[in-house]
Amino acid sequence: MRLDKFLAQSSGFSRKDVRKMLRAGEITLNGEEVRDPALHISEEDLICLDGMPLDPPGERYLMLYKPEGCVCSNDDSTHPTVLSLIDLPRADELAICGRLDVDTTGLVLVTSDGKWAHRVTSPKHKTGKVYLVETADPIPADAVEKFEKGLMLANEHFRTKPATLEILSDYEARVTLTEGRYHQVKRMFAALGNRVESLHRESIGAIQLDPDLELGEYRELTEEEVQSI
Ligand code: URA
Repeated sequence: MRLDKFLAQSSGFSRKDVRKMLRAGEITLNGEEVRDPALHISEEDLICLDGMPLDPPGERYLMLYKPEGCVCSNDDSTHPTVLSLIDLPRADELAICGRLDVDTTGLVLVTSDGKWAHRVTSPKHKTGKVYLVETADPIPADAVEKFEKGLMLANEHFRTKPATLEILSDYEARVTLTEGRYHQVKRMFAALGNRVESLHRESIGAIQLDPDLELGEYRELTEEEVQSI
């Protein structure tokens, strides 16, 4: 592929801008400054813009370990967004697949592939989202059946879809949902007169939060993880 085509597709800049960047010496090929837009490059070549490696053109699929205090939104005037943690060109245009509250931690999937994002979030696809919950009051055994039957949440007309509640200790449980209503886990516990003290998402479908990621870090999904959705 020609260098200017690669640059335009992987960075999102126009060919005209790409030529300007080349002229300004902002592009390196395997560590050497390059200025010729017609250069032919191969898959093994490392192309950087201002020292930052550019991904080959194509869809992007990432997992991110969301810390508290960050919002799952493309733009926010008061909090940093999860997308601001991603050091890639045009990261602000990526789609966040299923949002977490500002005080929730854990797995967030981010992609440029709108159809894939829809499969992650649409209840029709029944992709299980698994949360670890700590509550203010003890969790009674009969909550398991209530989660399974579905609960009426405040100001809603339809019961929640069957959810799995696994009680881990008096104040701790693992919840699996296949839908993603606003503050759903917190409101389900509120419907039982309890309160969620902390919430952490462990997995989405077969995709587990990578234990090697630190809070705020992200990595590309493997092909197998992408295909699992
Ligand atoms: N349910 C909630 O209440 N909050 C989240 O962040 C995710 C699910």
